[in-house]
Amino acid sequence: MKVDQQITHLKEASKEGREPKYLALTSGKGGVGKTLFSINISDLLAKQGKRVLIIDGDFGLSNIHLMLGIAPDKNLVNVIKGEMTLEEIVIKIKDNVSFISSGSGVRELANMPERQILSLISRIKEIAESDYDIVVFDTPPGIHEDTIAIVSAVDLPIVITTPEPTAVADAYALIKIANKQNGVKDFYVLVNKVSSREEGRKVYESLNILCHKFTEAKIHFMGSIRYNKNIIRNIVNQKPFNEDMVKELEVALGNLPIKYEMRQEGFWNKLISLLLRR
Ligand SMILES: Nc1ncnc2c1ncn2[C@@H]1O[C@H](COP(=O)(O)OP(=O)(O)OP(=O)(O)O)[C@@H](O)[C@H]1O
Ligand SMILES: [Mg+2]
Repeated sequence: MKVDQQITHLKEASKEGREPKYLALTSGKGGVGKTLFSINISDLLAKQGKRVLIIDGDFGLSNIHLMLGIAPDKNLVNVIKGEMTLEEIVIKIKDNVSFISSGSGVRELANMPERQILSLISRIKEIAESDYDIVVFDTPPGIHEDTIAIVSAVDLPIVITTPEPTAVADAYALIKIANKQNGVKDFYVLVNKVSSREEGRKVYESLNILCHKFTEAKIHFMGSIRYNKNIIRNIVNQKPFNEDMVKELEVALGNLPIKYEMRQEGFWNKLISLLLRR
């Protein structure tokens, strides 16, 4: 069995009778907001009492450590080399949020003997299943095989694009590959850096037309996030996030098939959520 099939097999085996647990933020094009949203989505879910594990798909490229304000000196490669246990490389970011840096580990998986791959994946799975409610993968830019494998294995692949035609083209390419190669059907699309919600909706619709015409994929609109120059990113220093962005992200999270309750469910929040969901 190939690695992709093994991962899918493990996923199927653990899937029965449970809530979606594995999310991946991906895009194709770089710099569209994968890391920013991985952190903020994790933060929002943690505030709901969910225990979240963030895994970066590729240390050098996803840049999540920079945004988290940490310089992890241990990663999956240490585990692969037998220098550390998996437990030892888990970094606690804050209450309910932990982080595993994969180093170039995901890429190195491809060169490992099958038995070793399976044993490592089973160990990650064990920790993920017993200690966490949600696992969020932040993937690096580019459409590499390992990124496609992660995107294809998770319960909820979240594709982020911006209105730029190149970003939309890359999002489409990624969806097409994951759909054609691995039969992934459902994707959740989040449009970032828009000037208005209408713009976000239009971007989604143009992507939807392409996917509908040329793939078997079904893409769901999660929502859009406006461009905001005041975005502050570092959760380690407990700096406030930009509230507007967080609200828009909450609405988008509400459109995922996971249990997510708005923080201050009240008339205005309900109204905003319903209006944005159109
Ligand atoms: N809605 C937004 N408004 C303003 N700035 C944004 C917005 N979303 C993201 N950014 C900024 O865009 C830059 C890229 O974001 P981020 O690093 O999250 O993208 P990425 O997709 O993870 O990039 P890479 O592909 O390189 O990993 C960051 O400086 C981030 O703060
Ligand atoms: Mg990134």
